[in-house]
Amino acid sequence: MAKYRIAWLPGDGIGNDVMDAARIVLDALAVDAEYVPGDVGWEFWRTEGDALPDRTVELLKSTDCCLFGAITSKPKEEAERELVSEQQAKGLVYFSPIVRIRQLLDLHTNLRPCKAYPGNLLNYRDDVDLVVFRENTEGLYSGVEFHPLPDAVRQALLDNHPKMSRFAEVPADEIAISCRIFTRNGCRRIVRQAFEYAKQFGRPSVTVVEKPNVIRETSGMMVREARDIAKEYLGIELWETNVDAMAMWLVKNPQDYSVLVASNMFGDIISDLCAQLVGGLGFASSANIGDNYALFEPTHGSAPKYVGQYKVNPIAMLLTVKLMLDWLGEVSLAQRLEKAIGAVIADAKVRTYDMGGTASTLEVAEAVAGSL
Ligand code: NAI
Ligand code: MG
Repeated sequence: MAKYRIAWLPGDGIGNDVMDAARIVLDALAVDAEYVPGDVGWEFWRTEGDALPDRTVELLKSTDCCLFGAITSKPKEEAERELVSEQQAKGLVYFSPIVRIRQLLDLHTNLRPCKAYPGNLLNYRDDVDLVVFRENTEGLYSGVEFHPLPDAVRQALLDNHPKMSRFAEVPADEIAISCRIFTRNGCRRIVRQAFEYAKQFGRPSVTVVEKPNVIRETSGMMVREARDIAKEYLGIELWETNVDAMAMWLVKNPQDYSVLVASNMFGDIISDLCAQLVGGLGFASSANIGDNYALFEPTHGSAPKYVGQYKVNPIAMLLTVKLMLDWLGEVSLAQRLEKAIGAVIADAKVRTYDMGGTASTLEVAEAVAGSL
């Protein structure tokens, strides 16, 4: 029996292309793992009315971790139109499988490293080395949303908050509310992960990125808990920056920052900004980590216009494999892989289109495998 059982979920579009690239490198590293394929994505929404069938959830529960490609998501009306006729008019509602997996398996920590590898001409500068910790299950993406606004919800808000009176007369279908829900536990565990990481890897600072001067209750809770946890980590500074200013500082002086921690939506936005500083979606890896399970995926989506062409950059996926190996405790394999990726980037011979080259997805993977 293999040492690890890994759920293998290519999903949609270029998810397949980059997963094929991942396999080339995993095989070259001779990782002692069994890869168990699972169904997820748009095809299963269209035909079964569920982009994440129950059998896939069971598969996840029977594995050590998951490697995930990408999925296609579409807005509500479009999603409903594309259902096969047998699934129409059943009132099915599309849910993003990736958001659902994060919530179902309580993958509370989204880790997104954004490191510049020298020789990548897409780097903003070569000395950027940022790691974003994004809270992954709460905040504005909790999914507690209302439209049209139910009378009982409006009344409860009117009864409990003076500022709601402005909205007392807006017709129910002309007002929408999305709840930004923070829990103390949720704040503490994401901040703690960021500090633990800083401690483990000798990082000098952790910057909490919120907006407590305006969003007083939720951002306020995050910053308060961050101050409390920071007391346990002598020698690591806590910096507090408002999210709007952070966007500016990251463009101006990204090399001054190290570990960033933020709630779900702010972390989503800031991590995309950070990714672009080091070459963009072709380089952006991510991990969704819970207490006992983790799912690893490149940050990019299914890029439908490139599907099946083996044209896109696999480096985001290969760096994602590196994160998975780290998490599994295969640290020396992870280091070998990162070195090989760095060498192929520095060598500048085998490059996909986004880096100005003509190599295919699989040729880049072969080059990395060759330099392991
Ligand atoms: P996308 O990330 O799929 O692609 C945007 C553009 O970025 C592509 O057209 C391509 O030019 C470039 N790109 C992406 N990955 C690349 C790579 N590895 N190498 C080189 N260039 C790359 O984002 P888009 O077009 O907004 O969304 C397409 C679909 O993907 C949508 O249905 C969206 O909902 C879904 N999506 C899924 C995500 C996930 O699976 N976690 C994340 C983001 C979007
Ligand atoms: Mg995003």
